[in-house]
Amino acid sequence: MSAGPSSAGPPGAIRPVSPLLPEPAEIVEKRSFGADLHAFRLRLLDPAARPRFDFQPGQFNMVYVPGVGEVAISISSDPDDADLEHTIRIVGRTTAVIERLGPGDVLGLRGPYGNGWPLQEARFKDVLVVTGGLGCAPVSGAIDYMFRRRASYGHITVLHGVKKPADLVHASRFEAWRRQPDTTVVLTTDQPDRVWRDRTGVVTEHFEEVELDPSRTVVLICGPEVMMRYAIRILRRRGVSDDRIFVSLERNMHCAVGWCGHCQLGPEFVCKDGPIFPVRRLGRFFGVHGL
Ligand SMILES: Cc1cc2nc3c(=O)[nH]c(=O)nc-3n(C[C@H](O)[C@H](O)[C@H](O)COP(=O)(O)OP(=O)(O)OC[C@H]3O[C@@H](n4cnc5c(N)ncnc54)[C@H](O)[C@@H]3O)c2cc1C
Ligand code: FES
Repeated sequence: MSAGPSSAGPPGAIRPVSPLLPEPAEIVEKRSFGADLHAFRLRLLDPAARPRFDFQPGQFNMVYVPGVGEVAISISSDPDDADLEHTIRIVGRTTAVIERLGPGDVLGLRGPYGNGWPLQEARFKDVLVVTGGLGCAPVSGAIDYMFRRRASYGHITVLHGVKKPADLVHASRFEAWRRQPDTTVVLTTDQPDRVWRDRTGVVTEHFEEVELDPSRTVVLICGPEVMMRYAIRILRRRGVSDDRIFVSLERNMHCAVGWCGHCQLGPEFVCKDGPIFPVRRLGRFFGVHGL
């Protein structure tokens, strides 16, 4: 993070902002998707701090709940939005407290951390996005980015699977993407209800209907690691090389700046070398926890 002003020290002195110091941000909107999934739109209390939070799609922030803890959460908004959005599944101690918060409450944010999706490398190529469950959150900003620069990308295919229809967050975004030219959007659920109109089954069952030219396709994948492993196997069979397949990994994070080693995966630190990796770079470490 860059330097910023401080109240300490002689008048006019500039002290570096600690990379571990959270910046207060107010929740300005909360949208709920079922009981355990919520999108929070956050606005920094100090608007002058916003440029430090400029991010590339795929990066994450550490979201701090005062007195409770801190969690790594991808930034799911469009990078051009003034506010920052985080889509959060309630799974444990800290997220259970976040669930009880709403507009007017204040959280701490530090970041953005990690790297972004290879959107420059994907220019003028076809892009296949494969996501499962909440996996859509880290990649939705990337899809918006490509559509805003539509002429710079070839055919865009989005293949998104959810366990149940209520898990389909940002449904309006999928509908908007579907209306774009030269675009295919395939949505699927394991547990269709009476109003579900799209495909059924897990996401990897629908690869066959995706046309892809391995020589000009870049693949972005995020979601549960088991889904990613199946997807990679199918893509390899279809001739896509490991340096064109990019995955977003999740590991337990503490510092998020490469200091503590909690997120280490072989020689890589997921917080600073990732969370996005070409499959070729992960090699035998992919899918291994606790290394
Ligand atoms: C780069 C990155 C991006 C992420 N993006 C999002 C996001 O956009 N939205 C979202 O809801 N979550 C995201 N996560 C996961 C999120 O950080 C965890 O769900 C959160 O830390 C759980 O905190 P907790 O205190 O509520 O749960 P805890 O009480 O700490 O844990 C509850 C359970 O979840 C498991 N767990 C905790 N952290 C992780 C993790 N990082 N990966 C896998 N299992 C974990 C624990 O082992 C335990 O079983 C991301 C994680 C990473 C590393
Ligand atoms: S979270 Fe501390 S090194 Fe990655």
